[in-house]
Amino acid sequence: MYRILEARELAEKIFLMEVEAPRVAKACQPGEFVIVKMDEKGERIPLTICDYNRESGTVTIVFQIVGASTKRMAELKEGDAFQDFVGPLGRPSDFVSEDFEKVRGRRYLFVAGGVGTAPVYPQVKWMRAHGIEADVIVGAKTKDLLILEEEMEKVAGNLYITTDDGSYKRKGMVTEVIRDLVENQGKHYDICVAIGPMIMMKFVCLLTKELQLPTIVSMNPVMVDGTGMCGACRLSVGKEVKFACVDGPEFDGHLVDFDEAMKRQRIYKTEEGRAMLRMQEGATHHGGCGNCG
Ligand code: NAD
Ligand code: FES
Repeated sequence: MYRILEARELAEKIFLMEVEAPRVAKACQPGEFVIVKMDEKGERIPLTICDYNRESGTVTIVFQIVGASTKRMAELKEGDAFQDFVGPLGRPSDFVSEDFEKVRGRRYLFVAGGVGTAPVYPQVKWMRAHGIEADVIVGAKTKDLLILEEEMEKVAGNLYITTDDGSYKRKGMVTEVIRDLVENQGKHYDICVAIGPMIMMKFVCLLTKELQLPTIVSMNPVMVDGTGMCGACRLSVGKEVKFACVDGPEFDGHLVDFDEAMKRQRIYKTEEGRAMLRMQEGATHHGGCGNCG
């Protein structure tokens, strides 16, 4: 069992939990995810890691209530435990294994949208721990939905906060801030890492293509079982078929077909849709987890 040491609501329907999971904490890297399961019958929920502490053996996750399972999960309190907390899974962010001198020579721009701020945090923290100052844009619909501001403030080089409704700091979406920084403030970046809702990542990529700024995105939102078995996270990346949970979750955002991914995500939700996808795409990566019948 994996004991919950801290459980708190960060914003409406968004929860943070610090979990005792020494083996995961020892090995995990920014960009990777875990699968949590509350009990024997519980759904497997893939969640990108928000923070980890190797000394105390803890891993922090942040999740939003989106259905029955996450609603049940949000009711867990300090002292309760998860039956399973499996990980680290997926591939770490590229910069973890790249030549450090190359990484240090780049100017990074991180773009976090809503709950996507949680997986961006360990990446920026890694940068800070390695002496790299990265610029960070955090976008939220409104002030009350902004999360991890204080934590991000401590690790970012420059932090730009924007709210869609202008209730806090700048007004507007993250794409408006990117354009302002690059076109009006003369900022130059070598790499952008954008993590948030799919629609945000799509529009960030459209803009960064125009700005010729290479962009990495995290396709965590399309994952279901997180094991390469259910087929939910199948993506077209350039001319290749990829699975977010085993080949990612991070990909070159300029190569991801977001429209197809969003359409497929809608179709996958129904039994009929899954059957149709099986017929169209063949049996690869289908039928291990029980989600697709
Ligand atoms: P949200 O809808 O509040 O959007 C957050 C910010 O994204 C907005 O404030 C805005 O700045 C930007 N944005 C949204 N639409 C945009 C557009 N069309 N153009 C430009 N910018 C836009 O975010 P939320 O409700 O917190 O998002 C929840 C979603 O985030 C879920 O679908 C979840 O799957 C996803 N998520 C993704 C990851 C990941 O790894 N990519 C991780 C956690 C959550
Ligand atoms: Fe990747 Fe199921 S989430 S195959």
